Amino acid sequence: MTVSRGVRHLYVHLPFCAARCGYCAFVVEVGRLARRDAYLDALVVEIELERSRLGSLDTLYLGGGTPTLMRPRRIARLLAHLRTTLAPGAEITIEANPETVDRRQLEALCGAGVTRLSLGVQSFQEHLLGRLDRAATPEMARAAFRCARAVGFRSISIDLLFGVPGQSPGDVERDVEAALDLGPDHLSWYELELKPGSALQRAAVTLPDEDEVADAYRGIVGRLEREGYRWYETANFARDGHECRHSLAYWRAADYLGVGVGAVSTVDGIRWRNASGLDAYFSALASARPPRRSAESLDADVRRRERWMLGLRLDRPLDLAWAGPPDHPEAIDELRDRGLVAGDGEGDGFRLTREGRFVQNAVLGRLMEFV
Ligand SMILES: C[S@@+](CC[C@H](N)C(=O)[O-])C[C@H]1O[C@@H](n2cnc3c(N)ncnc32)[C@H](O)[C@@H]1O
Ligand code: SF4
Repeated sequence: MTVSRGVRHLYVHLPFCAARCGYCAFVVEVGRLARRDAYLDALVVEIELERSRLGSLDTLYLGGGTPTLMRPRRIARLLAHLRTTLAPGAEITIEANPETVDRRQLEALCGAGVTRLSLGVQSFQEHLLGRLDRAATPEMARAAFRCARAVGFRSISIDLLFGVPGQSPGDVERDVEAALDLGPDHLSWYELELKPGSALQRAAVTLPDEDEVADAYRGIVGRLEREGYRWYETANFARDGHECRHSLAYWRAADYLGVGVGAVSTVDGIRWRNASGLDAYFSALASARPPRRSAESLDADVRRRERWMLGLRLDRPLDLAWAGPPDHPEAIDELRDRGLVAGDGEGDGFRLTREGRFVQNAVLGRLMEFV
């Protein structure tokens, strides 16, 4: 087992939201905004407890929840606290909900050193935003984006969804054009998952037809590529130099530390998850104890399979010397004959072809035991 010389990627979970959206199953706290300053104080205590694990940070990701519900001056204090831990040129991302940002706040975040804004748009179609329980209108999303540009954000990503109940092929095309009109540097375009515990799943909604969803995905990829975005990961597209370095660290199976309620960490072959309750989190940190956690040790097989599962999401070849062998090497020739995989793990590495990327789960299911 390799022992890291310090973790280079830190995730900070900021769980407060005004309401829970119907599709969301993230660790979220609704109606407890009065505790947000105290929460940042507790986070600083947790970071200090973990300080010895941290190396020079290449990336910091403030995710949620709705991080832009936190007061910007408190975010600035958190960043100031981490200043000496951040490497020169570190990527600092904050997730933002359009209805929660204004010019002053965006200026403050930019001024505090945040380098990258990830704006949760989900769709530009009113009727779909309604279905998803989103608070922002398409106009609010556009205004937030333009304001972020105007105050100086040089790297802006937008999150969108496809496979949404009621979303027609025309809706997807209109979303692609609306997104391109803004000129984002990066897009994350996820297929909607019906997450257990979400309102949408409880309502037993009907998802769009599988073939229609597959066509929507091909249409999105093709159009974004024609506009010069690199399809660098299954659901992610970037202009040159705007790939999300933090997410790349996850996909390359690097060690990362997560702090805050429900946050997950993976360091030196151990993965742990902080418990999700806010009150228990406060009471542990108030006595300078780590929050309650569940932990598991990742054995060599789990790690090898994760490297395959994550690594094949990227458009770069998988280095088999690093990833280890697949469970079913005998499937490779057939997959290659069908034009779904290329390379041999030597000079050219091993990768999914463009066609293989569209059926990634099926390919992985042939090569590995776990999907
Ligand atoms: C941590 S979440 C939320 C960030 C922010 N609070 C927002 O709502 O925009 C980040 C992204 O995950 C995606 N996401 C959330 N729930 C999802 C689901 N059930 N299926 C697919 N993507 C989902 C959304 O695109 C969302 O913007
Ligand atoms: S989708 Fe975003 S805003 Fe909605 S509940 Fe989840 S984290 Fe909060």
